[in-house]
This record gives sequence, structure tokens and C-alpha cells, in this order.
Amino acid sequence: MVQSSAITVTAALLAALPVHAGLYNKNSPVVQVDGKSYDRLIAQSNYTSIVEFYAPWCGHCKNLQPAYEKAAKSLAGLAKVAAVDCDEESNKAFCGGFGVQGFPTLKIIKPGKTPGKPIVEDYNGARTAKGIVDAVVEKMPNLVKKVEDKTLEKWLAEANETAKAILFTDKGKTSALMKSIAIDFKGSIQVAQIRNTDKEKASMELFGITKVPTLLLLPGGKEAQGLVYDGELKKEPMVEFLSQAAEPNPDLAPAKAKTLKSKSKPKDTDSKKASKAPAAAGTATEEVLEEEVTESPTPEVETQKPIVLPDPAPTISTLEDEAQLAAHCLGDRTGTCILALLPESPDEIGAKAVVSLSEIQHKYKLLHRNIFPFYVLSAKNPGYAKVKSALKLAEAESQIIAINGRRSWWRQISESALAEKDVSQEAIEGFVDAIRLGEGAKQKLPAGLIPEEAEEPSKAEAEERKPEETPVIVEEVKTEIKDEL
Ligand SMILES: *[C@@H]1O[C@H](CO)[C@@H](O)[C@H](O)[C@H]1NC(C)=O
Ligand SMILES: *[C@@H]1O[C@H](CO)[C@@H](O)[C@H](O)[C@H]1NC(C)=O
Repeated sequence: MVQSSAITVTAALLAALPVHAGLYNKNSPVVQVDGKSYDRLIAQSNYTSIVEFYAPWCGHCKNLQPAYEKAAKSLAGLAKVAAVDCDEESNKAFCGGFGVQGFPTLKIIKPGKTPGKPIVEDYNGARTAKGIVDAVVEKMPNLVKKVEDKTLEKWLAEANETAKAILFTDKGKTSALMKSIAIDFKGSIQVAQIRNTDKEKASMELFGITKVPTLLLLPGGKEAQGLVYDGELKKEPMVEFLSQAAEPNPDLAPAKAKTLKSKSKPKDTDSKKASKAPAAAGTATEEVLEEEVTESPTPEVETQKPIVLPDPAPTISTLEDEAQLAAHCLGDRTGTCILALLPESPDEIGAKAVVSLSEIQHKYKLLHRNIFPFYVLSAKNPGYAKVKSALKLAEAESQIIAINGRRSWWRQISESALAEKDVSQEAIEGFVDAIRLGEGAKQKLPAGLIPEEAEEPSKAEAEERKPEETPVIVEEVKTEIKDEL
């Protein structure tokens, strides 16, 4: 079978690679992520995350490790603390897509308006547990509504069939604990906080609340059915209590290992329902940690300076300047190129597309098949803005396009792939195959993007370009001519 030989080649390659181990082993509270799990664990999460991009041999990374693990422990149940080993071959393109230039790089990733489209910010604060914890807590989404006597009725009437929870407290600020609870039940329980001042007595009286803090659950959303929680103000038993009304979302912030085991029963609840909650708490962590089985050996290279990666450092090459862009893709004699256009602040589409393109390129190489080249064209290259504006593409968004200077056409990956953020290897391969086979509509390049005066290529140049004229490209050109008729 064709496949089995590819597998043998891959296995041989893998066997030749050095054994690799990250800084964080499976017992670490820090969650290991990679290009594949990032989307599910971080980008799709309703939680804020901090992600460390590191290399196991980097001295600053090792120095940060104890503080980072301490921060992860403090943030258990409140936020995700994750790390990506950028030295791992399969992660290089992913780290490059985030514009990582030195190690360690810390980024805070918080949920955006659209699920799966998080907001990515650099963390440049102190590399201490406290600095990290404070910064992450500050970026936690606050879904807890502040309610007062005069707004209580309106709040209760809103979505009156939805379960509600109210914390009566003497604190004006919303705690990280309450924020995390509102995130766990986002979409199923509306959470509010009523501050116990003399002004808000009516609310207290309405529910017969006499002391603070008190957590009240209205499973049917209506005031008549209040259930009072009288356990400890700790995350796990509170989640268990609220689970009477609704299941928490599947993706919880990793909890401390020990709290996962204790299953305190809340009072006066249907224990069948409530007992589902602890099983869900921490699934994300456990799942990831089980994948990571290696222990850190003593790294061989010791260095104190952050190491500068090629910028960015994807497996596919980057067109560094306009001259390279012109030479490889925008010349009057250049063949087909696939360009991953990465904006100033790289988004998830770009990062994922670079991973997918790198994997496809690697696959072709393993199979000894020729394919036209794939390049990263980032906003750092002045040619980026020119291409984007000539093709009328939004400057701030990642794009994947195919372009052919000699034949003066271009084509973009389907809008629906971009809208659904499906830039998986499969989706991109479909795009690449369509271009290989000359299928689908191409657009004419606008005038001005490719230099006008076309000289006849000298014989030497024509010879030189021959290797690029692979059977694959010939096939494409043939179909193209047919299309043009
Ligand atoms: C809930 O809201 C709907 C629509 O706003 C209203 O028709 C209904 O009477 C309300 N139910 C209660 C119990 O207030
Ligand atoms: C995020 O919140 C929505 C409700 O707004 C919920 O449906 C979804 O499951 C949550 N996502 C995760 C990953 O838990």
C-alpha cells in the first residue's frame, strides 16, 4: 500500500529525532498545549488563559518555572495556565504564527465577543507568581451582574425561565471565585451579586436573607423557589450546589488535584444531579496531562539570554522583504505560490493555517512529491500591505491565497473556510489540490502588482527554473489553458 511506505518513512524519521522533554511534566499544574489542542483548550474557552511559549534549554524559562507553577496553583479553578514547548518540531510553526521572538514569551488570551476568536495580549509584567496571578485575574471575564433593590425586579424578569444565582455580600468587588462560577454556568445560570448596604435591605428581606455572604439559587429563575447554600465559600461545593439547576459547561478551568477528589455533598439537594459536577471539573487538565508522559531530563544547553527565533519561525519559509516576495511569487515569471498572509497581531486562523501548510509541505516531502512553494508573508514585510490592498483584502485578518505571477491570477481560500475558521490540514489540502488540478475559479491579478516589462527569460534562467516545473505544475497549466478556452 502507498500509505504504509509513508508510515515507514515517518517512523524512521521520528526514530532519528532526539528524545524531547518539556519543562512541565505530567504532575505539573501547568497545562501542556500544542498547535492541535490550542483551539479546543484555549481559543474556544470561556476562560482567560495565560500561555508561556518556551524552550526547555532556555535559562530564563527554567528560572520562571517555579513561579509559573505557583501561579498555576493559585489560579486553579479560575483561569488556565498553559505552556507550549516551542523547541518541539511540531510546535515551531505554531509558535512562529504567534510572532514569538524570544523565550519565554507570555501571552494572556481572553475570550472575545465571538467564540473561538480570543483576544491575545502580551504579558510584559513581573515574572513572579503574584505578577502573573494579578494580571490574569484582572483579565477574567466578569459575567456577574451587579444588582440593587431598584433593579432586582427587572433582572428577575429578564429571561424569567433561566435559573439564577445571587450572592449577597458586603463586598462591592466581584471576587475571582464568583467570576469563575459565572463562567462555568455561562448560558445556563445567570449570576448576580447584591451588596449588603443599608440601601439594599428590600432584596435581603424578599428572600429572607439575614447574613452575608449568602449564595441563593433560583432553579426556575423565579423568586418563590430559592435554595440557600450554607456550605463553605469554595469553588467545588458551590459548583456542586448550583448543578442542581444546570450542568456546568464542559470546559472548566483546571482545578487543584486534591479538590477534585473531595466530594462534599451540598445540603438539601438532589444528590444524583449534583454529583455530576465534580466529574466535569478538571477534565481539561486531566486529559492533557495524560498525553504528556515524559520527564524533564537535565537540559544540555544552558543560556541566560532569551534566544531569538527566526522571525517568525514556521517550518514553511517566510518572505522577509519585498525583494524576496517579488523574486518568489510576484515576478512576471514566477509560478504558483501559496501565501499565508499574517497580520500585525497574528490571529488564530493564521497560526493554524501555518501549522497546516507546514504539515502539508512536510507530507509532500516525505512522499517525494513536488508541490509549489508555501510562504508566510507577514505584516512586517512592506509587500504585505501592497498585496492586501491590491487584492482588496482586509488588512487586519489572516488570509490564505494562491498567486501566480506568470499567468497573472490569484485565488483565495473559500470564505466559508475562513468564516468557520476551518484552516485544518484537510481544508487547506482541499484548497491546494484544487489549485494543483486547476479546479475552481481564479481571479485576474490587478494591474501594477506584477512588474510590467516581461523580458524573454534567458536560456540559463529557463534551465534554472526547470526544477520548479514539476509534473504537478504542468498538469495545472494544462487544465488552466483548457479553462481559458
Ligand atoms: C416570563 O416572561 C414571558 C415573556 O416575557 C411572560 O409572558 C411570562 O408571563 C413570564 N413568566 C413569569 C412567570 O413571569
Ligand atoms: C461557553 O459558554 C457557552 C454559553 O454561552 C456554552 O454553550 C459553551 O459550552 C461554553 N464553552 C465551553 C468550552 O465550555
